[in-house]
Amino acid sequence: MLGISKLASSVLPSATLAAGAKARQLRSQGVKVFDFSLGEPDFPTPEHICQAAITAMKSGQTRYTPAQGTAELRGAIARWYKKFYNLDCNAEQIVVSNGAKHSIHNALVALVGPGDEVIIPTPYWVSYSDLVSMTGAKPVLVPGSMANGFRVTPDQIKKAITPRTRLLLLNSPSNPTGAVYSRDELLAFADLVLEAKIAVLSDEIYERLIYNGTPPACFATLRPGLMDQTVTISGVSKTYAMTGWRIGWTISPEAVAKAMGNIQSQETSNPCSISQAAAIAALEGEQECVGSMRLEFQARRDLVCTRLKSMKGIQCPLPDGAFYAFFDVSSYFGKSFQGKKVTDSASFCLACLEQAHVNLVQGSAFGAEGFARLSYATSREILQSGMVQFEKWLQSAV
Ligand SMILES: Cc1ncc(COP(=O)(O)O)c(C=O)c1O
Repeated sequence: MLGISKLASSVLPSATLAAGAKARQLRSQGVKVFDFSLGEPDFPTPEHICQAAITAMKSGQTRYTPAQGTAELRGAIARWYKKFYNLDCNAEQIVVSNGAKHSIHNALVALVGPGDEVIIPTPYWVSYSDLVSMTGAKPVLVPGSMANGFRVTPDQIKKAITPRTRLLLLNSPSNPTGAVYSRDELLAFADLVLEAKIAVLSDEIYERLIYNGTPPACFATLRPGLMDQTVTISGVSKTYAMTGWRIGWTISPEAVAKAMGNIQSQETSNPCSISQAAAIAALEGEQECVGSMRLEFQARRDLVCTRLKSMKGIQCPLPDGAFYAFFDVSSYFGKSFQGKKVTDSASFCLACLEQAHVNLVQGSAFGAEGFARLSYATSREILQSGMVQFEKWLQSAV
C-alpha cells in the first residue's frame, strides 16, 4: 500500500476547479449547465499573440530556456512596468513562472515556513490559505465585511500583527469580491508594513480590470523603500485572455528572486518557451484588446449585478474590478429547494447546480460563509439565461 504524506493529505483540491469539474460531469450526461464557476476570460487569445507563438515554434524556440525565464521576456516585463507604473527594475529581479499561482507558491516557499504567520484578508482567493499552509506557515485570516466593500482596514491589519508575522497578502482588485483598494487605502497599508517591517505579497493579476476609474496601482511603487519589502505578482492570464498559456511572474528584491529561481530550477525548470514568446507579444503588442475586453466585462458586471440585486433575499454589492460578483445568499439558509434543505453556502451551491444547473462557488471556499461567487467571464446571452434560471430556482424555496 502506498502511503500518502502528511503534507499531501492536508491539501484539498482547489474548490473552483472542483466546481468546474462537477459542471463538466453533468454536461457529459447531456445536461445544459450554466457554468459560472471558473475565473477565466471566455475571449480567445488575441490573434497577434497566437501568431507570435506560431513564429516561435517555427523558428525553433522549442528548447529549455533559463529557469527564471528568457532575457527577452524579462526585459519586456521590466519595460511594461516602467511604462505603466514608472517602476524601475532589472531582469535579475524578475522570475517568470507557470502562471501567477506558481509565482505565489514560489514566493511563499522562498519567504515563509513553520512558525511564521501570514496575514490574509478575507474573503480571499481560494488558493491562498492552502498555499500558505503547504509551507508550514500559519494563515491568519482578517475579515473584510460586506459593509466595508469587503475591504479590510489598516487598523484591522495592525491588530493582527504579532512578532511571528512575516508577510501580508494583498489582492486588489480582489478575487472573489472584485473589491479595489483606493490609492489612499494602499498608502496606509504601505506605511503600516514599512513601520512593522513585514513583507508584502501583492497579487495584482486583475490590475487591468478596474471599472470605477481608479487607476491601477503597483503597490511596490507607492512609497520609497517599499520595493525592498514587496513581491509583486502578476501575469498574462486575465489581462490578455491567456489562462491556458501559463505565464505569471514576480518582481522582488534580487536575493528573493534568486531564491525563487533556484526553487523553480529544481521543481519545474523554465516555463514553456513558446508561451514566453507569446507573452512578449502580449506585453509589447497593441493594447486595444485589453480595453475592449474590459468594456465587455463591465457591461456583463452591470447586467449580472442589476439582475442579482433585484432578486428577493440576495444582497449584491457592485464589484469595482476583476470579473466576479460576490453576493449574500444567507437568507436562504434553513429553506428547502425541491425537498432539499440548504444550510450553508456549500449546500446552497450544490442544490443550485443539481436543480437549476447553475454553477456557483460557495463562499466558504473563500473564507466567507454565507456568500456565493459568480464569475461573469462568459457571454451576456449565457449570463442572461442563467440569471432567469437562477431566479426561478430561488423562487422555488419554501
Ligand atoms: C487572485 C488570483 N491570483 C492568481 C491567480 C492565478 O493566475 P494564473 O492563472 O496566472 O495562475 C488567480 C486565478 O484565478 C487569481 O484569481
